[in-house]
Amino acid sequence: MTMSKLTIRELIDKYPFIVSYLEDNKLDITGFEDKTFDDYLNHFSGEEIENWAIDKERLKEDLLAYIRQMKEFLGIKDDTSISSLTIIAGHDKSKNPEGFEEFTINKSEIVSIVGPTGSGKSRLLADIEWTAQKDTPTGRAILINGEKPDMKWRFSSNNKLVAQLSQNMNFVMDLTVKEFIELHAQSRLVEDVEETSQRIIDAANNLAGEKFDLETPVTALSGGQSRALMIADTAILSSSPIVLIDEIENAGIDRKKALKLLVSKDKIVLMATHDPTLALIADKRIVIKNGGISKIIETSQEEKEILVELERMDSIIQGMRSELRAGKQLQVRGKK
Ligand SMILES: Nc1ncnc2c1ncn2[C@@H]1O[C@H](COP(=O)(O)OP(=O)(O)OP(=O)(O)O)[C@@H](O)[C@H]1O
Ligand SMILES: [Mg+2]
Repeated sequence: MTMSKLTIRELIDKYPFIVSYLEDNKLDITGFEDKTFDDYLNHFSGEEIENWAIDKERLKEDLLAYIRQMKEFLGIKDDTSISSLTIIAGHDKSKNPEGFEEFTINKSEIVSIVGPTGSGKSRLLADIEWTAQKDTPTGRAILINGEKPDMKWRFSSNNKLVAQLSQNMNFVMDLTVKEFIELHAQSRLVEDVEETSQRIIDAANNLAGEKFDLETPVTALSGGQSRALMIADTAILSSSPIVLIDEIENAGIDRKKALKLLVSKDKIVLMATHDPTLALIADKRIVIKNGGISKIIETSQEEKEILVELERMDSIIQGMRSELRAGKQLQVRGKK
């Protein structure tokens, strides 16, 4: 649960019944509406804690338990109550059955998708986004929490199930970056649109090379900048439990930072990639051949060790890239 990140106002919005928990425990949150429950608990002085026998950990645990019980009692389901995604095999481009029957990815797992150009990596991501029911060229079916998903996901306007970062980003509307983000933030019912917009811009600029500002038209952004903007926008605004990433590497942005921003532990992440480092960061990888999943491999201990080496080489390459980008001439390392 993301309770620790929500402000008390957001918590009450989401779970109005917690007001009675606060009252029962004589917790007066006046003035702390825009702070988190943690912040509120931390404001008590040592003396207050002692005098009133306040047990912060206990209060937090009890609030969580209270929310859990009330949700169960009221039959409330969170948007994020998605714990698994299952791919049921279809067929490859030659109509041969895929090399697996059923593959389930659980919350907090990262799965990479590898395979030659044109083999069908983006197609697999599209099947998941569409929650395919044997109605796409691959004949695959997608289950959510082990069940056939509600088809409302397909048509919900801000597509809550899946956040998709696709390979090609084409902005159709000529908005400024600010207008674009605000539109998104409003459609996702963010309260502090201005602050959130700024956070997104900062995160995007942290990924991209040349900085851009809020007044830049989105159509004037470079490929890498628009990608950085979409990544930051998805990471900060989207509450989708499933994140699909199609080739983060070729955008010239900081891939590791981008991945860190996008991956959080209550998500299911699938990432198509040609990059060995990213492929091995995943727990498992799907190998695609001729449009079908040919196998699913678990990243071995040995591969994780190789990953350390790869990351070392990668940082050398990234360093050289930065120098070249900055107009410098490279020198053999160690040479003065
Ligand atoms: N099982 C399948 N049956 C029929 N067509 C398929 C199948 N899988 C993929 N395709 C089609 O093959 C084409 C190439 O697939 P896709 O774009 O997914 O490749 P890719 O692996 O993402 O390549 P790249 O690495 O260049 O991004 C697409 O038109 C896709 O719809
Ligand atoms: Mg692709």
